[in-house]
Amino acid sequence: RREKIDLTVVGPEAALAAGIVDEFEKYGLKIFGPNKKAAQLEASKVFAKQLMEKYKVPTADFRVFDNAAEAKKYIEKIGAPCVVKADGLAAGKGVVVADTVAEAMGAVSAMMEEKVFGAAGSKIIIEECLRGQEASILGFTDSKEVIALASAQDHKRIFDNDLGANTGGMGVYSPAPVVTAPLLKEILEKIVYRAIDGLVKEGIIYKGVLYAGVMLTKDGPKALEFNVRFGDPETQAILPRLKSDLVEVMLAASEQKFSRVRILDWDNRACVCVVCAAGGYPGEYEKGKEILGLEEV
Ligand code: AMP
Ligand code: GLY
Repeated sequence: RREKIDLTVVGPEAALAAGIVDEFEKYGLKIFGPNKKAAQLEASKVFAKQLMEKYKVPTADFRVFDNAAEAKKYIEKIGAPCVVKADGLAAGKGVVVADTVAEAMGAVSAMMEEKVFGAAGSKIIIEECLRGQEASILGFTDSKEVIALASAQDHKRIFDNDLGANTGGMGVYSPAPVVTAPLLKEILEKIVYRAIDGLVKEGIIYKGVLYAGVMLTKDGPKALEFNVRFGDPETQAILPRLKSDLVEVMLAASEQKFSRVRILDWDNRACVCVVCAAGGYPGEYEKGKEILGLEEV
């Protein structure tokens, strides 16, 4: 208010989940991002999965647990591979794609007994392991209309050849050639629109950018997750390709005046982002190191 900021764009999910948008709007300050209720789509995987189930968004079969012993009994029954997910925010580390029963059991113990993610692990999801290529589809929305951004493909595993632990994303390129125009249409219709319409039916308005992490399975695209913000590192590869005015579309979303914005204009050239992470990531790693030599890259 003192600096008379015209538009605030929220990056991280934690601030959105804590309700920064609700707070700003109380004071009539323009802000781009979903409110606290809508941010549950990322802040609670149980909320997101239940919404997907209710509004028929294709996604992996799942069960919710609030008890470690029952979760482990279920893993005994279904076997591996399976995916164990902490309900709450865990800085991109709350998902374990377990190739063995022992790994899945270990993930349940870590989340529910050792509480490595605190309260974020008091509920967990165990779900079917999907196979296929992943794509990230982001859309600007004012909760009535959606304008898709250019597609991107994020590479999640820490090592080359899709090996090692899941990370927030080690690199990405845009566009993702696997996302053809008809496939994009299907993803928007079955995943993005259904989720936003579902929220509206629950009385929740979603303004901002919605990120759908999608697995392209042989049975069609299935939603892996939603993020309620720009993806990192997707955004680094997507936004340099945008030729239209980003501020105009963000303002229109925050004012729910999307009809003003027509289509977005994209540069045809591809864009790549490679992430360099400190040794040890996504586990414990040394912080505060200086980055040198960028001018020579
Ligand atoms: P999420 O935060 O739910 O997107 O999970 C992070 C990453 O875990 C995804 O980008 C996928 O690589 C992987 N993942 C999540 N759910 C599944 C699943 N059901 N099957 C296979 N891989 C998954
Ligand atoms: N790249 C996935 C994310 O932003 O969480």
